[in-house]
Amino acid sequence: MLEVIHVSDTHFGPDRSLSIRGANACERAEALVAAIRALPFVPDFIVHTGDVVNDPDRAAYTLAAEVLADLPAPVYYATGNHDDVPMMRAALAFGEKEPLLPDAEDRLCYRIAGTAGEKVDFFVMDAKVPPSEGPHGYLGDAQITAVLDRISGTKPVAVFLHYPLVPIGSRWIDEHLLVTNGLEFQRALAEKAGPSLRGVFTGHLHRGLTLYRDGILHSGVSSPACEFSAAPGDTSCEFIAGGPIPFHHLTFTPDATMVKAYSLPFSPASPR
Ligand SMILES: [Fe+2]
Repeated sequence: MLEVIHVSDTHFGPDRSLSIRGANACERAEALVAAIRALPFVPDFIVHTGDVVNDPDRAAYTLAAEVLADLPAPVYYATGNHDDVPMMRAALAFGEKEPLLPDAEDRLCYRIAGTAGEKVDFFVMDAKVPPSEGPHGYLGDAQITAVLDRISGTKPVAVFLHYPLVPIGSRWIDEHLLVTNGLEFQRALAEKAGPSLRGVFTGHLHRGLTLYRDGILHSGVSSPACEFSAAPGDTSCEFIAGGPIPFHHLTFTPDATMVKAYSLPFSPASPR
């Protein structure tokens, strides 16, 4: 049994003042950390599926590192479209991991190591494209091959990345925010992992998501900073600020994958 906390899209600014449509990103991330610390159990690890900061800026990563250091378990990060990998590597503390592209310093593609990695093959992938092309994602062949080759075949498999792989039924999101070769990757992943595939866990949408396609669970967690609209006919992205503080508690047992969604009222964390 493994207990995992899934968070995403904290969007820290370079100082504590960054406000997104009137909602203070740092205060809301602190409330997220406080809520996880208040859980009556200690998770095995925590995954942050990207957009740690709002703009790639060393001061923003320093602030993020300071706040997220209070999380009660090792943390693993995926690259969001707002992130910068060298700055993430320099500022953030990662749990024990096995790099899958050892020569790619600007990519976060790895397998979670340690005790958790002995039970489940957890992969973190990096689908960021140049900012001039995004905000969609794309998975390169080297990364896909590296992950597929590392699937042991004897353990459950789960994949974490920032960008959803498959359409969610909302026009603007489906046209702008997905991994453009996500369906192709999903097919290859399903073929290699078979029934061992436990799910694909994502952020980016700033909206909770449960989607089941071709027998595969896709679970997305929303952002504590602000939510996005996701109506079927959306032709743009509306920001919905001031909502609840979201995170997911994932449980992996030998037989099941469980997702418990938290959506807590925001109250500023008490000063540390
Ligand atoms: Fe985001």
